[in-house]
Amino acid sequence: MILIIGAGGQVGRELVEKLREKKGKEQVLATDIRALEDMEGPFEELNALDKDRLHELVEQYQVTEIYHLAALLSANAEKQVKFAWELNMDSLFYVLDLAKEGKIKKIFWPSSIAVFGPNTPRENTPQHTVTDPTTVYGISKLAGERWCEYYAKNYDVDVRSIRYPGLIGYKSMPGGGTTDYAVDIYHQALKEGKYECFLSENSYLPMMYMEDAIRATIELMEAPAENIKIKSSYNLGGISFSPQEIAAEIKKIIPDFEISYAPDFRQKIADSWPSSIDDQDAQNDWNWEIEYDLSKMSADIIKNLRKHYT
Ligand code: SER
Repeated sequence: MILIIGAGGQVGRELVEKLREKKGKEQVLATDIRALEDMEGPFEELNALDKDRLHELVEQYQVTEIYHLAALLSANAEKQVKFAWELNMDSLFYVLDLAKEGKIKKIFWPSSIAVFGPNTPRENTPQHTVTDPTTVYGISKLAGERWCEYYAKNYDVDVRSIRYPGLIGYKSMPGGGTTDYAVDIYHQALKEGKYECFLSENSYLPMMYMEDAIRATIELMEAPAENIKIKSSYNLGGISFSPQEIAAEIKKIIPDFEISYAPDFRQKIADSWPSSIDDQDAQNDWNWEIEYDLSKMSADIIKNLRKHYT
């Protein structure tokens, strides 16, 4: 049985759907801190900080793999610094320890481009480079990466991780990140015909369509263990664009769309992150290949959201 922690989140919703398609509905136990009314198939409420309940569920459902997705994202974490650190770190230890004790076999835990900072090379950021994050989210992800590698090397734990770029999809909403604008913009374009962006027009960030991100996650988890050379977290490139460029792409399909800019505190976070990522190691080790570019992604999102809004 596969256990998903944070099944109601932006990644969780789509991952549960895809894993159930692949492995069968009954093979995937979705959990979230809130009851998810619309979730079909096995579901349990679980606060990622409730270690006893986590142990109970692992035993009761004979869980062998955990995808641990619960976390406070970059913008939200800046507002609840201590709690973000506690949630992002303690919950990871609970899962890592389950594997160390031999109670589960495999873990997926996402890291982020937020592990990089102002002294990291911004273009084509290499796998191994300066990591000086300035956000509590980035600090927690970097520490988490170090712990994943530590558990892998010292306790032989099979933990796999990707440094996700900003993730963009139409099926679920992100919560409290700096890259969220690139999801909101499509909804506002269809609903209002205009969007006020909280980042400036030339803020380039690494992004990825959710289809690609979910496929990457599953491909990484299915790769033979000996291919997984990086035990901390893999760079994943995706596509790099600015608010101005995504707006131009939307205009091709919705010609009257208008964008304006009102940068807020998230601009500083965006400015500390890379604009593009080198993911050669993911390509070499588990044959990673991206499918969606900005225009293919935009066309797909707008086509699907149009059905939703009409
Ligand atoms: N999308 C995330 C955020 O903006 C980055 O991992 O916080």
